Amino acid sequence: MSSDIAKRNAAQAALDYVQQDMILGLGTGSTAAIFVTLLGERVKAGLKVTCTPTSEATDRLARALGITIVLPDELSAIDLTIDGADEFDPALSLIKGGGAALLREKIIAEASDRMVVIADAGKEVARLGKFPLPVEVNPFAAELTRRRIHDRLEIAGLGGVASSWRMATGEALLRTDGGHLILDIACVAIPDASLLASLLDDLPGVVEHGLFIGYADEVLVGEAGGVRRVFPAA
Ligand code: A5P
Repeated sequence: MSSDIAKRNAAQAALDYVQQDMILGLGTGSTAAIFVTLLGERVKAGLKVTCTPTSEATDRLARALGITIVLPDELSAIDLTIDGADEFDPALSLIKGGGAALLREKIIAEASDRMVVIADAGKEVARLGKFPLPVEVNPFAAELTRRRIHDRLEIAGLGGVASSWRMATGEALLRTDGGHLILDIACVAIPDASLLASLLDDLPGVVEHGLFIGYADEVLVGEAGGVRRVFPAA
């Protein structure tokens, strides 16, 4: 499939950013998994890096490939994080969390000197919101928090949008690696992502949300024939 080739091209290009002895944050999702797999090949060939994962899935994959994994608390700095995204706009604001790892992804991205996003061209949008915005919610009083989120959505010009709890297999609600729920919000188009982010940041029941504003330094956009490098628009 062409998006698989595009993801691979982006992941492959990200390897050029990796240098000997770096400390890397490893993202989550299908594109990040391709990067981790390619990185594993380099490690087998002699590259020395220390990595910290953004999810249990990435942790397992990296360890299986022989990549040295260290938990974040043991690190004093992270040189570079390579991670995927569900959407990015011209300012390189992102929606993330399609793989339910947004909390750990944001913690690691924030602590990194640099974040390079790898994404296929289908993730590029003029305005964020077509991809349902994931919001990680504490299970305590989750329906109350959901109502409070919708109050905030209205203030942000998103009154009347639909939201749904993400399901795992069967009838069970999905739980994140941290034991939280994910509320997916069908925004369609977010008028002001910074305003919405600050309104959600302000709600105690919201553990984290999938708006990553000011995190990405560069996006490697995978296309069928290669890669395009995108920097934040001024
Ligand atoms: C994981 O929670 C997400 O933020 C992923 O990085 C994002 O969903 C991109 O995943 P794919 O690379 O699978 O599209």
